[in-house]
Amino acid sequence: MSNYFKQELPGKLFTVEGIDGSGKSTQLKLLHQWLQNEGYGVFLSEWNSSPLVKTTTRRGKTKQILTPTTFSLIHTTDFADRIESEIIPPLKAGAIVLADRYIYTAFARDAARGVDPKWVRKLYEFAVKPTITFYFKVPLSVALDRILSSRAQIKYYEAGMDLNLSSDIKESFKIFQEKILNEYEKMIEEFGLTVIDATLPINDQQKKVREIVMKKIKELKKFPKPYSNAPRYFAKK
Ligand SMILES: Nc1ncnc2c1ncn2[C@@H]1O[C@H](COP(=O)(O)OP(=O)(O)OP(=O)(O)O)[C@@H](O)[C@H]1O
Ligand SMILES: [Mg+2]
Repeated sequence: MSNYFKQELPGKLFTVEGIDGSGKSTQLKLLHQWLQNEGYGVFLSEWNSSPLVKTTTRRGKTKQILTPTTFSLIHTTDFADRIESEIIPPLKAGAIVLADRYIYTAFARDAARGVDPKWVRKLYEFAVKPTITFYFKVPLSVALDRILSSRAQIKYYEAGMDLNLSSDIKESFKIFQEKILNEYEKMIEEFGLTVIDATLPINDQQKKVREIVMKKIKELKKFPKPYSNAPRYFAKK
């Protein structure tokens, strides 16, 4: 993918990527708290969270009628809404945006579903290029242990059950996550993802993340009072 959103924006965009259970949200929350305490304007945007397509997504998922292509297009629509309402405006104002998953999630999952990778990359050419994308690299077994011990149940599409990989949901989840992991590995070089060893303790990873972020935000304005959309984000968890 050679094209991104054309305009240079004064704010900074940090995104986190990795397979389920790699520790993305844990790290992003810690980063968010730290940036807020430092006095920066920080906004959060979460993958697949746009109110615009919520009903359609729920209906498609409940009835299990989404094909890889329609599923892909729903996510693009969700992203298009969020980029215009949640991502570009704070970046225009010189603030920091933290995105829990970004376009690379679509590239990894859609390719794992058999969608043409070139077509998906073209779809997202309106995306703003992130300042840094952290890729939380973790072996499948570690991520699976974390997910399976912290989640009550795995959902149909999350497990890739639509792909008929296995009739056993846990087995399907493993196969699907492995496919996604392979796609992420290919993207490290393609998109210059910043790799973090996600097997490390939480605080060690956070230290590395902050060191990298700090170098990129030196010229940003700080605000007298913390300012963010955190309540909405945390309320959803
Ligand atoms: N470095 C770590 N070491 C051990 N456990 C961790 C580590 N980081 C996160 N965890 C735990 O692993 C689980 C999954 O973490 P988290 O929700 O941050 O992952 P995620 O990548 O956001 O997953 P998802 O893609 O499903 O949203 C949580 O229970 C979290 O406490
Ligand atoms: Mg998460």
